[in-house]
Amino acid sequence: IPETILVSSDKTIPLLGFGTAEYPFGASSETMKDSILHAIKLGYRHFDTAALYQSEPLLGEAISDAIQLGLVKSRDELFITSKLWCSDAHHDCVLPALHKTLKNLKLDYLDLYLVHWPVSVKPGEYELPVKQKDLVPFDLKSVWEAMEECQKLGLTKSIGVSNFSIKKLENLLATAKIPPAVNQVEMNPLWQQKKLRDFCEKKGIHITVYSPLGAKGTLWGTNLVLDCKVLKEIADAKGKTIAQVCLRWAHEQEASVLVKSFNEERMKENLDIFEWKLSQDDLQKINQIPQRKGFPGLEFISDEGPYKSLEELWDEEI
Ligand code: A2P
Repeated sequence: IPETILVSSDKTIPLLGFGTAEYPFGASSETMKDSILHAIKLGYRHFDTAALYQSEPLLGEAISDAIQLGLVKSRDELFITSKLWCSDAHHDCVLPALHKTLKNLKLDYLDLYLVHWPVSVKPGEYELPVKQKDLVPFDLKSVWEAMEECQKLGLTKSIGVSNFSIKKLENLLATAKIPPAVNQVEMNPLWQQKKLRDFCEKKGIHITVYSPLGAKGTLWGTNLVLDCKVLKEIADAKGKTIAQVCLRWAHEQEASVLVKSFNEERMKENLDIFEWKLSQDDLQKINQIPQRKGFPGLEFISDEGPYKSLEELWDEEI
C-alpha cells in the first residue's frame, strides 16, 4: 500500500486504511477483532478508531495478536489513528483522554490523534447523538494547544482534526504552532468536497476520507453511493466494482481512504485500487454527479447554540 508524507510532521501515512467504526457502537466485538486481524494478514497497515467507537480495546488486542503471530514484527509497522471525543474537547481533558485511548489500545504512542468534531459537550459520556443540552462553546485555541502538547510529549506522532470546514481550518491555522497534519472528512463521488480539497492542498493539510462508500449499513448512511448508475456504468466498463471505483476516485484526489468491511472477499477487493486508473471521461462523468452530504451532523445543532444551524457548523459548505 503506497504512502504519502504529512507536511506538518514529516511522517508517512498509508494511503489506504481500515475503519473500525460501527453503529450501534461495539455491537459485534468478535467479528471486529477477527476482521482487523484478517486485514493485517491481507496487508492493511493503517487502522482508524476513536474514543467514541468502543473499538480501541479490540484494535489493541488485534495488534498484540498480530505481533505474537508474526504478521508484523512490531507496532512500528502499523499506523494507528484515534480521535478525541467532544466530551473531552476541553483543554484539561485532552491529555487524560489520550492516555485513556493509549491504555485501551495498549500502545505507548499513536501515529495520529484527531479532534473528532469542532464541537464540545460537557465532560462525561462518550455518546452519539450527544445530548443537545450539553453542547457548550468549542474553544479551538486551547484545545489545540493541548493537542500540540500531546505531540511534543511523543504520545502521538502527528495531530489533526476531523469534520472541519475551510473557515474552521483557517481559524486554526491562524493560531496553531503545529499546523494540523490531517483533516478527516466525509468524501465520496456524491460528496466530493472540491473546495475543501483545494484549500487543504494549498495549506499542506492531508485529507483522509471517511464513508468512501456512503457508509451503507450505519444509522445515517445510505445505499445511494453503491447504487449510483453513473458509477455502475464506469465500474462495468472497467470490470471493477462500484466500491473499487469509489476508492480509486478518492485515491486519485490524493487523499488517504478509510474503508471498512467485515467480509473477507470485499476486504481483498478493496485493496485492488492501485494498479489501474480512471480515465478523463470517467472523471468528468463523476464530476457531474449531483451532490448530497450523507452525514450532516444535525445532532450538533441546537436552538441555544453554539451552532444554531447546519450552515454555522459547516460554514455554508453544505
Ligand atoms: P460489509 O462489511 O458487509 O462488506 P463505508 O466505508 O463508506 O463506511 O462503508 C462501509 C460499508 O460498506 C460496510 O457496511 C461494508 O459492508 C460495505 N462494503 C465495504 N466494502 C464493500 C465492497 N467492496 N462492496 C460492497 N460493499 C462494501
